[in-house]
Amino acid sequence: VDLSFDLATLPKLELHLHHEGAAPPAFIRRLAQEKRIDLGKVFDAQGHYAYSDFVDFLRVYEAATEVLNTPEDYARLTTAVLEQSAESGVIYSETFLSPDFCGGSDVGAWKEYLHAIREAADAAERDMGIVLRGVITCIRHFGPEKARASAACAAETAGDWIVGFGIAGDEAKGKPKDFSYAFDMAREAGLHLTAHAGEWGGPQSIRDAISDLGVSRIGHGVRAIEDLALVDQLAESGVVLEVCPGSNVALKLYPDFTRHPIQMLRERGVKVTVSTDDPPFFHTTMTREYEALRLAFGWDRGVFAEIARTALDAAFCDAATKEKLA
Ligand code: ADE
Ligand code: ZN
Repeated sequence: VDLSFDLATLPKLELHLHHEGAAPPAFIRRLAQEKRIDLGKVFDAQGHYAYSDFVDFLRVYEAATEVLNTPEDYARLTTAVLEQSAESGVIYSETFLSPDFCGGSDVGAWKEYLHAIREAADAAERDMGIVLRGVITCIRHFGPEKARASAACAAETAGDWIVGFGIAGDEAKGKPKDFSYAFDMAREAGLHLTAHAGEWGGPQSIRDAISDLGVSRIGHGVRAIEDLALVDQLAESGVVLEVCPGSNVALKLYPDFTRHPIQMLRERGVKVTVSTDDPPFFHTTMTREYEALRLAFGWDRGVFAEIARTALDAAFCDAATKEKLA
């Protein structure tokens, strides 16, 4: 393994980041204290987020969002998140924003949250040079009706900053088809589409997300490796995977990086990118992901350059923004 090049300063693009999931635990603790909110069992003795499995992770994630209940909270969160990302050499980031957590999917409230987030993002771009765009994300286990309300918020705010629509949450609940209407609304509003699939669901979950939601990117998608015909289909169609290896290892989908399928997917021609998902929950950063991938697979400069190029091509921002990043 060639360890001679510095991964921390390599320019990175991140396509899969949950806004609340990127909140440092100290940030959430401070807000809870300020607001005198008792969060219950959220942190361990070291002050890290504490959860036992994926469903428990979702519980802790949603508990932490309880302290984030004003546009100003989201402005502060945005600054904290972008400082962390910039420290890892990230120059472009797409963050998942859920109107469910930002004003309860009310369009008027959502617009106020979005305004505050954008102001903080604009300031971060001026100060640190990092570019942020938003992907509105519905939550699968909240059901199709809430997803339609999120899609309505998305349609109202689609543009040069809100550039995509997606779905996260518990992949074991419901089917992609249940969310077709919400995705149709988002598509008609001109938004690019992505869906979490092939993380807790198998190959069929990925097939369904592509055929029933018409997405051009898949969040995770790593379990495509269990069906090589699907792997070939992904390679041929050019669907891009937002792979989050550290998240998959932390949530015990794979025992360690060396057993993670990202390398095999790449070798079979699938377009893969690298992201952190919910960095403090998984004790990761973009630099740590890169370091673990170099160690596990011996990736050299050329591979990391290819990953960055794939992410730039697959980014949902407009062509003028891509040109500035290239
Ligand atoms: N929400 C935040 N992180 C997630 C993940 N890894 N999968 C599904 N939903 C999520
Ligand atoms: Zn995710």
